[in-house]
Amino acid sequence: MSRDVKILAIESSCDETAAAVVANGRNVKSNIISSQISLHTLYGGVVPEIASRKHIEKIDQVIAEALESADTTLDEIDAIGVTYGPGLVGALLVGVAEAKAISFAKNIPLVGVHHIEGHISANYIEHPHLEPPFLCLVVSGGHTHLVKVQDYGVYEILGRTMDDAAGEAFDKVARAIGLGYPGGPKIEKVAHEGNPGAIPFPRAHVSEGAYNFSFSGMKSAVLNYLNGCRMKGTEVIQADVAASFQQAVIDVLTGNVTKALEETGMRKFALAGGVASNSTLRHAMKSQCEAMGAEFFCPSPILCTDNAAMIGAAAYYDYLAGKRDGLDLNAVPNLRLGES
Ligand code: KG4
Ligand code: ZN
Repeated sequence: MSRDVKILAIESSCDETAAAVVANGRNVKSNIISSQISLHTLYGGVVPEIASRKHIEKIDQVIAEALESADTTLDEIDAIGVTYGPGLVGALLVGVAEAKAISFAKNIPLVGVHHIEGHISANYIEHPHLEPPFLCLVVSGGHTHLVKVQDYGVYEILGRTMDDAAGEAFDKVARAIGLGYPGGPKIEKVAHEGNPGAIPFPRAHVSEGAYNFSFSGMKSAVLNYLNGCRMKGTEVIQADVAASFQQAVIDVLTGNVTKALEETGMRKFALAGGVASNSTLRHAMKSQCEAMGAEFFCPSPILCTDNAAMIGAAAYYDYLAGKRDGLDLNAVPNLRLGES
């Protein structure tokens, strides 16, 4: 039997400092995440300068812990996978500089990974039989992409958001109804107590591009609704606003996925990204797939939000395809999927 290919993966694109050891792309030996959420909560959102400083403080410790809990050392690592974009430039630079330093000092090949490719690849970890081609919806704080995964590392973007990302809309609406940061999990929790049919927020259909999304109108509709209540002196039922907004987002997301499954004829669908940890969204997508005879995949919630195991999964397939980066690898804050 051939030897395992072990990847040390590093992720620092936003507010999680993370490192993982992944064997053969799907076997997670360790997955360490140091979250800065409680720090940024004080400011109502991620403060880039604070994020970079905290990454610097934590990164060595997180990597040491990832190696230790995988019961391995750098001498047994075949490649280092690191997120180099998209994300906050200062935050990305910490992971990239660390990965380059280890690569140089220990002469280990370096593989730069696209963060969204990481989110998509999180699906490989718990679903050993999932192989491309499949349709994937990536819903995170910075991105909303409907992607045809044609092969490992080969993507065709069918649709994207024209304005806010789905997670960004959750965060902005949460702030407006007094829930604070991070918005997604807080809206989900409160929405369980509310009526999703209470307020008919609009479901935007974008005329440009069959599978594109728009969420800024929905966010404005929530703000207008809150303003209207204030002017009329009517009570705002926070749980109903949260549940109705969440339902509107879910309807738009499932609508485009249904259309894409119908029109492409694909029969495998995967959900990915931080918003994919929303249980109401997961259930809605799963039932829709079942109704259409499509297989449904979704990572566990801890692999949906930012982590390094997903970067290790993506790096493995890039490594197998011969992708190698040099010590000139740089952070690319606006890196687009499919570009290198
Ligand atoms: O993928 P992620 O961890 O980071 C980015 O790459 O952006 O996603 C973070 C986003 C945030 O906007 C957060 O509010 C949202 O995912 N999110 C959720 C839930 N958990 C996280 N949105 C809805 N429901 C959730 N349970
Ligand atoms: Zn992410």
